[in-house]
Amino acid sequence: MITIQGKLQEKLAQAIATLGIDLPEGFQVGVAISQDLRFGDYQSNVAMMLKKHLGKNPREIASELLEKMGLGELATADIAGPGFINFKVNQSAWAEKVNELIGDDRLGVPVVDASQNIVVDFSGPNVAKPMHVGHIRSTIIGDSLSRVAKFLGHNVTTDNHIGDWGTQFGMIIYGWKNMLDEAALEAQPLQELLRIYRAVTALCKEDESIKGLCKAELVKLQGGDAENAGIWEKCVDVSKLGLNVIYDRLDVSFDHWYGESFYNEMLPPLMEALQAEGHARESNGALCVFSGDELEPKQDPFKEKRDDAWSDLPMIVRKADGGYGYATTDIATVDFRLKEWKADKIWYVVDARQALHFRQLFDISARRGCETEMEHIAFGTILGKDGKPLKTRDGDLPQLGDVLDDAIAQSRTVIEEKSSDLPDEEKEALAEAIGIGSVKFTELSHNRNSDYVFDLEKMVALQGDTAPYLQNSYVRCKSIFRKLEEEVDFSSASAKITDEGEVSLTRMLARYGEILPNVLDDSRPNILASYLLELARSFHSFYEACPVLKSEGETRLTRLMLCELSSRVLKHGLSLLGIKAPDRM
Ligand code: ARG
Repeated sequence: MITIQGKLQEKLAQAIATLGIDLPEGFQVGVAISQDLRFGDYQSNVAMMLKKHLGKNPREIASELLEKMGLGELATADIAGPGFINFKVNQSAWAEKVNELIGDDRLGVPVVDASQNIVVDFSGPNVAKPMHVGHIRSTIIGDSLSRVAKFLGHNVTTDNHIGDWGTQFGMIIYGWKNMLDEAALEAQPLQELLRIYRAVTALCKEDESIKGLCKAELVKLQGGDAENAGIWEKCVDVSKLGLNVIYDRLDVSFDHWYGESFYNEMLPPLMEALQAEGHARESNGALCVFSGDELEPKQDPFKEKRDDAWSDLPMIVRKADGGYGYATTDIATVDFRLKEWKADKIWYVVDARQALHFRQLFDISARRGCETEMEHIAFGTILGKDGKPLKTRDGDLPQLGDVLDDAIAQSRTVIEEKSSDLPDEEKEALAEAIGIGSVKFTELSHNRNSDYVFDLEKMVALQGDTAPYLQNSYVRCKSIFRKLEEEVDFSSASAKITDEGEVSLTRMLARYGEILPNVLDDSRPNILASYLLELARSFHSFYEACPVLKSEGETRLTRLMLCELSSRVLKHGLSLLGIKAPDRM
């Protein structure tokens, strides 16, 4: 289904085509959603853009375009200021939109013209290291972007690039052999692995000889020692089990879990390829990728300024001791994703602190002929109420599982206040939906690049820009239908829009299909989050101003259609954020 914005764009483009001018490639026939309703519902500045092509006064161009557009029943238009065209959609066209939307299971959201193979690399926790609140941002943002991209019609592959290889395994294997608590491992695998990792890290700081022992375990593992390989495998397995418990709670899943270790065998041939291509050379015993010398030093990720001069900042792809690292694996990962999945795009949803790593990775990939569009979808830090990075009372990074538990506990108090009469089982399910929904919504409603304060009380409050506010709005839409005696059949219903409250809500509903594609422009789920808040507010104002059940005939049916659509869009939008919408609260 085409959006109203899309229809106006189409008509405008057709009118421009009749002018017979050669427009530069990529010329955008922009029709924007008006920020100020006094200027209508949509606005275009295209007449001003055409001024230099036609050598005419933009107001004149605008009126010529309007004449040719044939707006018909869709909208009225006027010309403002230097040549803006303002469109005001007619009530009959809004009604037509409602009729279309009620029969559309895509809720007015168009499918993209060109579907792409998009690989989303997100979450990526490290075995035996804490999956902390930093990973929560990646997990929640990555999951939501994947859901939106899929719904818009892209072919999405999600991949959890877990850190299941690397130097930490020297310490873990040493700890496993010397201090493992089997019962604890059974009960809480992630915690136990983390405990031994932390304990050994502390020991290493005190005692150099332990460090040496850990290193020896690592060398044995890398050399293929059977015992160590067995321990490694068990660590990875129990870790995955533990992680899956968290992902289940979050309702997040992946198509693949190709962790770092998956690429081990591809690394030696990759080294040969990089050398043969001339992209890597030896330096002090290590194999390194240097600058391609095509960029300004300032833009070049392989250069850094030291003592007022530009020096090389190579990427080490094979250490002097023969070992490989994170960066090397990521180059192999790109090759694999191009070959196996024909990726048109790869999105890396990873902490902003890894920006340099990704700039280097993208640069070397491009130099190796990769045309896939790669994007580092970065995010900032989660802060405590003191404005400093969030920590537990002991000064550790909070564990994701604990954060979820806290949020659920906090939402129980809200539920006790509001819905103490519900059966216990339902209350518990509600607490989960609200608690986890709150954590997700807080994350997704912020601009991902900014830091935000983690404030449990605010997050689970029923009032404010929160998940429970939206969940409760959904419940309110639904509850209207519970009060009805009869089933309403919308299949042949025809809306009639006359009231300003109805127009406002319809305008918001029609906007769903217009704003959703924008989420992918700059990978911003917060666009969807803000939209849903606006929709909910619009629904509440409508409900205040326009009696539904007390009205009659056409008006009543139209208003019921609007309630029904509001509930559908709220539920669907929340689902794209990965948030559940319970029917009762
Ligand atoms: N394991 C990494 C970390 O915790 C994240 C992995 C991101 N993905 C990637 N392909 N590098 O920092």
